[in-house]
Amino acid sequence: WPRTSGRTDGALTIGGVDVRDLAEQYGTPLYVLDEDDVRSRMRDYASAFAGSEVHYAGKAFLCKEMVRWLDAEGLSLDVASGGELAVALAVGFPPERITMHGNNKSEAELTRALEIGVGHIVVDSYEEIARLGYLADKYGKRPDVMIRVTTGVEAHTHEFIATAHDDQKFGLSLNTGAAAEAVRRILALPQLNLVGLHSHIGSQIVDTAGFEVAARRLTTLLVAIKEEHGVVLPELDLGGGYGIAYTPDEVAPDVKEIADSLREIVAKVCTGAGLPVPKLTVEPGRGIVGPGGISLYTVGTVKDVEGLRTYVSVDGGMSDNVRTALYGAEYTTLLASRESHAQPMLSRVVGKHCESGDIIVRDHYLPGDLAPGDLLAVAATGAYCRSLASNYNYLPKPAVVAVRNGQSRVIVQGETEDDLLRGQL
Ligand code: LLP
Repeated sequence: WPRTSGRTDGALTIGGVDVRDLAEQYGTPLYVLDEDDVRSRMRDYASAFAGSEVHYAGKAFLCKEMVRWLDAEGLSLDVASGGELAVALAVGFPPERITMHGNNKSEAELTRALEIGVGHIVVDSYEEIARLGYLADKYGKRPDVMIRVTTGVEAHTHEFIATAHDDQKFGLSLNTGAAAEAVRRILALPQLNLVGLHSHIGSQIVDTAGFEVAARRLTTLLVAIKEEHGVVLPELDLGGGYGIAYTPDEVAPDVKEIADSLREIVAKVCTGAGLPVPKLTVEPGRGIVGPGGISLYTVGTVKDVEGLRTYVSVDGGMSDNVRTALYGAEYTTLLASRESHAQPMLSRVVGKHCESGDIIVRDHYLPGDLAPGDLLAVAATGAYCRSLASNYNYLPKPAVVAVRNGQSRVIVQGETEDDLLRGQL
């Protein structure tokens, strides 16, 4: 639950605001973001990785206000598309603090990145190296580039969000020599300035050994590049992926410990080889915005399937949180609008979509007197819920409201029926 959450008169409060008031004022479903929580996590990462750069991974959740918070807290930003870039530019975020990612950036995206002068472009394929070289030439630019390296680490997470084994679409493999070949190709293009290597092993990682193995392998490649080309690359980007606790028995890894260990590994390998220690960058997304967000729903029906469980239908579903359906994600939920001492019942919180896989919380004990009109809160939905939201069944995407010091304000408006019909001929 968000750092500022509590209970008043039996109801959940966040940022000093009663969720019953939020539901009344803005309706449900609703995403609620605890501004103090999110901003304090920005500072936590910045201080754990002091001396390194923290690039927030915008894919986790991005909107203009989030970009303003990042700017105010001195963080940088990682974007994965022209659209994410546009959000950052819309509020004047400094382009030199932006890294451009993506395994298939379009020419238009690359051109925009060159024109505005983003700080780094992370290249992901041989084609992209050639494409970027051509465009840099055409526009008379010399971008700082990094190579996304697939380090061969098997991250212990869901298959869809593990990214460092060879058999997936991202990066250039260390094992097959593709990464070394990418280095040769970039160094042969004077219009590209190779400044470093990048690795992202996956997301929602709680076993931190994978980060260390990847850092060691990436640094070893840095040394090999010096030996082969006489070039000392000044930067390493170690990606994101720091897991958070979604359920009471999960424990989030200690970011400060990881930071210390990564710094030590990189320094040791470099010093041992007589290389200067490179500047480090990390790209946390979920770790910054995940825990401070909750989703608020109103219960519509409570169906007891005799001998099995109780199905609690709420007014949102897989369109505002697809993670359970997509990754088998686990969430924590509670009755947020009142206290209840009724016997807990094994419940499944489901949405209102036309799919039986439309599940938000698979198994959870909720009070047996749950009834239509009750509010349910789902914890840790700040990351990859609004950003992965869809309009399935023509449901409008819910608003995002920020709370702080007893005040609430909309930072992303909820969609209306007009929004849903816009653009239809
Ligand atoms: N850097 C790169 C290059 C990435 O691809 C990602 C995430 C991150 C940083 C941030 O990772 P984080 O710190 O947020 O774990 N939709 C999935 C997660 C997909 C992550 C994609 N890349 C989910 O809901 O679990």
